[in-house]
Amino acid sequence: MKKNIAVLPGDGIGPEVTQQAVNVLKAIAGRFKHSLHFVYGSIGGEAIDRYGNPLPPETLSSVNTSNAVLLGAVGGPKWDYVPVANGPDQGVLMIRKLLRVFANLRPVKTYTSLSSLSVLKQEIVKDTDILFVRELTGGIYFNSPRGRRDKGNSAIDTSKYSKEEISRIATVAFNHALKRRKKVTSVDKANALETSRLWRETVVEMGKKFPTVQLEHLYVDNAAMQLIKNPKQFDVILTENMFGDILTDEAAVLSASIGLLPSASIGNTHPYLYEPIHGSAPKYAGQNKVNPIGAILSAAMMLRISFKLEKEADTLEKAVEKVLQSGYRTKDITTEKTPKNKILGTKEIGDKICEELK
Ligand code: IPM
Ligand code: MG
Repeated sequence: MKKNIAVLPGDGIGPEVTQQAVNVLKAIAGRFKHSLHFVYGSIGGEAIDRYGNPLPPETLSSVNTSNAVLLGAVGGPKWDYVPVANGPDQGVLMIRKLLRVFANLRPVKTYTSLSSLSVLKQEIVKDTDILFVRELTGGIYFNSPRGRRDKGNSAIDTSKYSKEEISRIATVAFNHALKRRKKVTSVDKANALETSRLWRETVVEMGKKFPTVQLEHLYVDNAAMQLIKNPKQFDVILTENMFGDILTDEAAVLSASIGLLPSASIGNTHPYLYEPIHGSAPKYAGQNKVNPIGAILSAAMMLRISFKLEKEADTLEKAVEKVLQSGYRTKDITTEKTPKNKILGTKEIGDKICEELK
């Protein structure tokens, strides 16, 4: 199989984690005789520095000719002077919107070998297996009116959802539930927000088309509590853009480190976008310290979802599991008891995973 992958490393730790994801993809390509071609592009703060634009046309042209896009992370204090409307994060928001990847899939699992590392009790987090389906191109992130009013002394953002936007994301959630444990928990704030009332109404309607899937609804405040109180009750969690952003960072605590978590952003047309859920962590940039597994598992999602390479994706995920089972750790997933010789850098743990793939 021959595929073009656009790689947008971005800022902070983005380039180091993305490099490891590219390395494992090359190892997979070697082992399974595929031809993967990587084209690099600029996004975020470094794109502002180079082109004066967080998502320059140069990047878009390589993205548009690719079969899938791998993104690192964007942002950092260096660009705090740039107004939000043109800042690094806009690069990510714009590419999601332009690619129309309305469904953000964020699986949160607790590896058995790591379940003692969460700050939460082991018996609570053990065997957690949740798929977040986050709406990604609508809601308060994208609608107007927005901006400053009153000489800068008041500000406005607008949350808006159409029935069509809600039903298409709900369909994604129900379809995934069918392949999993057949339960969807829809998260909203229907006791306070009109968008949430439409959300709930529409999800109930869509749910009728999936009679074998159990549907329940939680208010977002309660969902935030249930998530760390009893995470095993959840299978698929369906939610709007901003609630999904917040809840998935919270859910990262279940898996020991946010550095482990991947995501896939999908829609009706390719290319799709793959990125770890963590940010650019500028304070760790360039130190070869952070965990590249979120980026590496995002590459596995790319193999499975964009290229339909199920076996390759499985092989990659197993290799990650094997390396963790063998006791290898990056700094973020260590304790005082972790043997020093098992603590690896970003590159070294990436290399271990590649070795496992050969
Ligand atoms: C995420 C990030 C983004 C978001 C930022 C970078 C705009 O936090 O992907 O979770 O809020 O969606
Ligand atoms: Mg986030």
